[in-house]
Amino acid sequence: MEEEQTPPAGPDLTRGVTLDDFTDGRLVGHVGDQEILLVRSGKGIFAVDAHCTHYHGPLVDGLVVGDSIRCPWHHACFDLATGEATRAPALTPLSVWQVEHEGSRLFVRRKHDQPKPRIEGPVDFRGRIVIVGGGAAGFAAAEMLRRQEFGGDIVMLSNDAAPPVDRPNLSKDYLAGSAPEDWLPLRSDGFYAEAGIDLRLNSNVVSIDTTARSVVTDRGDAIAYDRLLLATGAEPVRLTIPGSDQPHVHTLRTLADCQAIIKLASGAQRAVVIGASFIGLEAAAALRARNVEVHVVAPEQRPMERVLGADLGDFIRKLHEEHGVIFHLEDTVIAIDGKRLTLKSGGSLQADLVVVGVGVRPRLTLAEQAGLAIDRGVTVNAFLETSVAGIFAAGDIARWPDPYSGTNIRVEHWVVAQRQGQTAARNMLGQRKAFDAVPFFWSQHYDVPINYVGHAEKWDDITIEGDIASRDCLLKYRSNGRVFAVASIYRDLASLQAELAMEQKALD
Ligand SMILES: Cc1cc2nc3c(=O)[nH]c(=O)nc-3n(C[C@H](O)[C@H](O)[C@H](O)COP(=O)(O)OP(=O)(O)OC[C@H]3O[C@@H](n4cnc5c(N)ncnc54)[C@H](O)[C@@H]3O)c2cc1C
Ligand code: FES
Repeated sequence: MEEEQTPPAGPDLTRGVTLDDFTDGRLVGHVGDQEILLVRSGKGIFAVDAHCTHYHGPLVDGLVVGDSIRCPWHHACFDLATGEATRAPALTPLSVWQVEHEGSRLFVRRKHDQPKPRIEGPVDFRGRIVIVGGGAAGFAAAEMLRRQEFGGDIVMLSNDAAPPVDRPNLSKDYLAGSAPEDWLPLRSDGFYAEAGIDLRLNSNVVSIDTTARSVVTDRGDAIAYDRLLLATGAEPVRLTIPGSDQPHVHTLRTLADCQAIIKLASGAQRAVVIGASFIGLEAAAALRARNVEVHVVAPEQRPMERVLGADLGDFIRKLHEEHGVIFHLEDTVIAIDGKRLTLKSGGSLQADLVVVGVGVRPRLTLAEQAGLAIDRGVTVNAFLETSVAGIFAAGDIARWPDPYSGTNIRVEHWVVAQRQGQTAARNMLGQRKAFDAVPFFWSQHYDVPINYVGHAEKWDDITIEGDIASRDCLLKYRSNGRVFAVASIYRDLASLQAELAMEQKALD
C-alpha cells in the first residue's frame, strides 16, 4: 500500500505572496515539497527551511530574537541570514532561500548556496587540540573547531566503542523501538575523516602529564597537545547490593548498554526499574512501549520531586500509572537473586530485566590525578578553562560560574554539554567567549515533553500557571522572590520567552 503524502503547508511561494499574508511576521509556504518559513525581522525578510534540523520542530512556533530564530522544542537557535545552527542541540544548518521582491509581491524559487558560518574571532592558533571524550561536549567542540575554520590537528579520544551518538535517544524512541539505529550517530562515519577529526574509539585515557603536555592511553600511547579539552561526562552509579552484577542487571549510558537492554526486553515479561530518575522513568516508558510489564522501585515519596516539585512529581507518577507502570515508592531493592528482587519493605518482585537508574557521578579521576582544581566537578572559569592554562573542561564534569544564578553550578544536561563544548572550542582558539547560556533540559514521558530552563536546587515556592493535569502549564521556581527556573508542558513559546528573559536578567 502506498503511503499517503501530506501536501506541503501554505501557499506555493513560487507564485508569490504579499506581506498581508504574514501572521505575526511569519508565513509558512512551500517550493515543491520543501516547506519554507518566511520571517520578517527588522528591515529584512528571511526565508529558511521551516523545520529544525534537530528533530524537525516547527520553527514557525519558535521565538524570533533579532535575526535569529529559536526552536520551540529543545531551544536550538538558527541565524536567519546564514541558516547556521548557532546553538545546540541542532548542529546542522538550515537551508537559506532567496527572497525576490517584484512590486509588492515576494517570491521564493531557489536556495542560496549555503552561506558560510560566521567566524567570531581569531583562528590563528595552529597547534594540536586533543579532546578526551566522544560524547555531547567532545563532539560539539570538534565540530565547532572546524566550523570556525581551525586548521590544526584535532584528536578525539573516546573509550566508547561507538562514535558519538544522540545519547538522549537511548532512553526514548530508540529504546522504545520507534527510532531506527541510523538516527543515533551524530554524524556519519565518513564525517570524521572528511573533517580531519582523528576520532580514536576504544581509547581510554588514563593520565595527563601537564608538564609534558600529553595524555596517555591505557595502551601506553602518549599524545601531545597544545590545548586539551576534558569532556569525560558522567558514569552511572552502580548498585553494590548482592546480585547487582548479574547479566540481566543494567545501567543505561552507552549505545551498548541500550542494545543489551533491548535484547533482554524482547524476551522479557517484566522489568524492574530501580530509581525514579529521569533516565529510569524514561526507560520505564520505553519498556512499556515494548509491552513489558514495568515496576519502579525508588526511595522517594514522589518521583522527581527534588527537581520538579511535588505537583509535577504527582503528575508524572499518575502519567506512568495510566500507562501501566507500578510504583513501589519509599522502598529499595536490597538484593537480587536471579530473577527475584528482595525489597527493603519485606516483599519481593520477579524480573527478567533490571534497569538501574539511580543517578550518575562525574568522571573526575583524570582531572584529579592531573591536579586540576576540583569542587564537586572540575572547576572552570567563565571561559571554561580549568585551573591549568590550556586545559579546558565541558559537559557533565564542569562546574562553571553561572551568571544568572550568580553561583557555580554543574548540571547533567545534553544541551548544556554541547553548548559548553562549542564555547570551549572557541576559547581554545582564543576567541574569549564567556559561557553565559541559561541551562536547558528536556525530558519525554510517553507523549508528554517537559522543558526546563534555569537551575533551581531549592526554592521557597512554585507558582503554577495553567493546569498540570491538562498538560498545559508553566511552573516558576522562586527563591527570595526571584525566579530561578521554569518548567513547562506544551507551553513552548513561554519557555523560550523565559529563557530569553533570564538571559536578559529580566524575569520576575
Ligand atoms: C540515556 C540517557 C538519556 C538522557 N536524556 C537526556 C535528555 O533527555 N535531556 C538532557 O538534557 N540530558 C539527557 N541526558 C544527559 C546527557 O546525555 C548528558 O548530560 C550529556 O551526554 C553529557 O555530555 P558529556 O559530553 O559531558 O558526556 P558524555 O556524553 O557522557 O560523553 C563522555 C565521553 O567521554 C568518554 N570518556 C570518559 N572517560 C574517558 C577516558 N578516560 N578516556 C577516553 N574517553 C573517555 C566516554 O566514553 C564518552 O564518549 C541523558 C543521558 C542518558 C545516559
Ligand atoms: S527539534 Fe528543534 S531543538 Fe530539537
